[in-house]
Amino acid sequence: MTAITTQAAATPLLQTQGLTLSFGGVVAADGINFELQTGERLAVIGANGAGKTTFINMVTGYIKPASGKIIFAGTDITQMQPRQIVHLGMGRSFQLPQLFLEHTVRDSVALAVVARSRRLSLFRPLSKCVAAEEVDHILEVVRMSARAGDVCASLPEGHRKLLDIAMALVLNPKLMIMDEPTSGVAADEKHALMDTIMKALQERQVTAIFVEHDVDIVQKYATRVAAWIAGRIAADGPPAVVMANEEVRSVVLGQ
Ligand SMILES: Nc1ncnc2c1ncn2[C@@H]1O[C@H](COP(=O)(O)OP(=O)(O)OP(=O)(O)O)[C@@H](O)[C@H]1O
Ligand SMILES: [Mg+2]
Repeated sequence: MTAITTQAAATPLLQTQGLTLSFGGVVAADGINFELQTGERLAVIGANGAGKTTFINMVTGYIKPASGKIIFAGTDITQMQPRQIVHLGMGRSFQLPQLFLEHTVRDSVALAVVARSRRLSLFRPLSKCVAAEEVDHILEVVRMSARAGDVCASLPEGHRKLLDIAMALVLNPKLMIMDEPTSGVAADEKHALMDTIMKALQERQVTAIFVEHDVDIVQKYATRVAAWIAGRIAADGPPAVVMANEEVRSVVLGQ
């Protein structure tokens, strides 16, 4: 892990202590101790079924660990619901974006804005419940202004991922956790997609965790890599070091 040598260590933005969880006989989390500092861009790598999504689901409150503790920005969130955790400043995007497919891009972002401000009214149209400038701005940030009127069902996968992230950004997160933001996106479009995502996050000083299978993307965008193997973190550190790790090379990268 980076930095913190001579001075007292900064309080981690996110910390987990001894997280465990099994599904039947499958150990999906095997005592995960983890710390993330503000400003890091962490790539999570690991083979299919290694427990990456399970880790994200526990941290974001979607599933509870069997044991262990999760601390976010100094607050114990282990028993909190996803909604409470979001309001503390943790955003999330999904491996499969959960969009309302019949809505337009603009209405989707507007819904995220009203959900934040809780100003949705049955008696006023959605467009009157939110500031159009805020919706416009978020769409600009993720470079989707030209798609504002499109129905979500018509969006290619890359734009679905971006919209999912845009909706999370509405809540001004301190930390954004993205589960495979480039999966399902054509290889030659992944870098442009990640450029847009990372620029949007950096402009807003949002710390990031992203799950990624593409080694080039990991090396280009991560400041740190954590490799998951069978529910545990097998290696964690600077990208070059983790990618050169023997166990990571054989089990995760298949080299
Ligand atoms: N709700 C569930 N019920 C039963 N088993 C589950 C459940 N969620 C995950 N698992 C199992 O736990 C293990 C870890 O799954 P997880 O989805 O966390 O892996 P992953 O690293 O995200 O994989 P992928 O790269 O395929 O997304 C797998 O063996 C999976 O089948
Ligand atoms: Mg997964």
